[in-house]
Parts: sequence; C-alpha cells; structure tokens
Amino acid sequence: MALMFFSEYDDPREWKEHLVALMPDLDVRIWPDLGRLEDIDCALVWKHKPGDLKRYPNLKMIVNLGAGVDYILTDPDLPRGVPIVRLVDPYLTKQMSDYIVLTVLAYHRRFPEFARAQRERRWQYIHPVDPARTRVGVMGLGVLGGDAARRLRELDFQVAGWSRTPKAIDGVASFHGADGLMPFLDRTDILVCLLPRTRDTDDLLDARTLRALPQGARVVNAGRGHLIVDGDLIAALDDGQIAHATLDVFRTEPLPADHPYWRHERVTITPHCASVTLPRTAAPQIIDNLRRLRDGRKLLNRVDPAAGY
Ligand SMILES: NC(=O)c1ccc[n+]([C@@H]2O[C@H](COP(=O)([O-])OP(=O)(O)OC[C@H]3O[C@@H](n4cnc5c(N)ncnc54)[C@H](OP(=O)(O)O)[C@@H]3O)[C@@H](O)[C@H]2O)c1
Repeated sequence: MALMFFSEYDDPREWKEHLVALMPDLDVRIWPDLGRLEDIDCALVWKHKPGDLKRYPNLKMIVNLGAGVDYILTDPDLPRGVPIVRLVDPYLTKQMSDYIVLTVLAYHRRFPEFARAQRERRWQYIHPVDPARTRVGVMGLGVLGGDAARRLRELDFQVAGWSRTPKAIDGVASFHGADGLMPFLDRTDILVCLLPRTRDTDDLLDARTLRALPQGARVVNAGRGHLIVDGDLIAALDDGQIAHATLDVFRTEPLPADHPYWRHERVTITPHCASVTLPRTAAPQIIDNLRRLRDGRKLLNRVDPAAGY
C-alpha cells in the first residue's frame, strides 16, 4: 500500500518512522516526491492544498491529520466517494483535558483575579469555595468534550454537557439540541467550548447566548474561533456579563496584532496549542484503518461530510 503525506506543520520523517515501524511494507511518500500518482491508496494530510486530493485516481481513504475537519471539508474538489477519517489520538485527548482542567481550576481558584490584584499590588483575599457548588458546562460531548467532562467530574465539579444527541456519562447532566441550549447555559458558571466548526455551530456564542449565562460566568474556547462572535464577547466582557475568557482558537490565526483580544485585561490567549497530535500515539490508529481498508472492514472515526464533523 502507498500512503502520501502532506503537512506544512508536522515532521514527515517522524510520521514515516512511526507508521513504517507498525507496517513495514507501507510505502510512505512525502509530498511533493510522490512518484506515480496512480500508486497512491491513502492520503494523510493536514491543511492540504485545495484540489490536490483529486489528483490520485486510486485514492481509497483520506486521513485528516487531526481531530477538527472543518478545513478539509472546505475543499470543493474533494474526490467524491472517498471516505474521510479523522484522528482520535489518546494523547491528544488527554492533552486537551489537561488544558481544560488547568483553565477551569484556575477560574475556580480565582487566578485571573489574583493576577490582576498583583499588577495593582493589592492583597485581595477570596475564600476558596467547594467545587461541588461550581457548575461547569461542556459544549460538545464528543471524544474531547466527553473526556474533559469526566475529568472535571472527578474533581467534584457539577458538570453538564450539551450535544446534538443525548449522552449518558456518569454524573454528567445531559442537555441536547436547540431546546436544551438555553437551560444548559442558564446553569453554567464556567463554559467550556469543545464543539467542531460546522454551519450549525458558527456564531453560536453571540450576545443572546452569552446573556443566557449567569452574570460573571467564565468561558474557555478550545473548539474553533468561529463559534464566538468576537464583538459580542468583548461587549459582554466589558459590561461584566462575562468575567473572563480563555481563548485558544480564533477566526483568523495567527490572531492579528491589532485585535482587541490582545490588550483586553479579562482575556487569556494561547496560540492554538491546547492539544496536538503525536505520531507515536496516533500512528496505531492510522495503521488499524489501513488494515481495515485492505480487508474491506468498516473504517474507524469516519467523518460525516453532511453533518460537517
Ligand atoms: N484547540 C485545539 O488544539 C484543538 C485540538 C483538537 C480539536 N479541536 C477542536 O475540538 C473539536 C471537537 O473534537 P472532538 O474530537 O471532540 O469531536 P467529536 O468527537 O466529533 O465531537 C463533537 C461533539 O460536538 C457535538 N456537536 C456537533 N454539532 C453540534 C450542534 N450543532 N449542536 C450541539 N452539539 C453539536 C457532537 O454532538 P453528538 O455527540 O450528538 O454528535 C459531539 O458531541 C474539533 O472539531 C476541533 O475543532 C481543537
């Protein structure tokens, strides 16, 4: 089998080493040195050049080198009928949950307020409260949101989640669909966004939904920047409706130097690094799917292009 690799962000040699260690006869070809395009069975790509994937007449599977598939699905020239699968990397999941736990605990233990007080040389004692009284709401209860919800639950927070379909996660209240959104927001002191970007989730957090949160709610977005209407979030931060936002993802990345988020004292920015795919931990799943493809078995983690995730 021949696999073509394209990413301007990842080290192709490291990927090749881990893939070939698990499947020694796999022929890994690194873009643009691909030889005969007819040989290519599988493409492993991140932010590929639009139109490129239709150049391989015998392509049987496209692997998106990451969890979010919003970029790949914007290519109008994707080859029809070729299944797209995404990576579900155990280390990526753990890393994301670590980021969420870190941020929620920082909110819960009032670190943003202490940082502000320190800048003003002010001793501001805030008595720590019982986590069981802090209501955390996770938007998106998929692979990442589900794991984050479980980890937060283990820390004794009151956890709920919102998804398209109902979920049963021990100790986590499930809200779903359009009808579940407002009741979910109404009971959420710390909002964690781990939704994919789709036409249904674009602009979901706007003036109306941010107002549905209790006053002084805190927000963390590690899903996609397009979930938030930036101007509405800034207005909500300015008038105290939202006390703080921690943002890892943005509509335009890198975030432009003149963006108001940079200088906002109630915003913490991380540069889209909440979680990354590691070749060592993600390679086994790619090889599993290659074997499934070869044997005609069902592929894992298949993307539904109609749903957008
Ligand atoms: N910042 C980073 O470093 C980073 C890294 C990796 C991924 N991400 C982002 O995280 C996202 C989530 O990843 P994942 O692996 O957890 O995805 P996933 O397993 O596909 O889960 C997506 C979740 O979102 C829910 N959802 C989708 N559309 C919805 C809608 N219209 N209304 C309500 N719920 C909706 C789904 O509901 P159902 O369960 O009912 O289908 C599901 O629970 C990715 O798409 C990517 O954008 C960010």
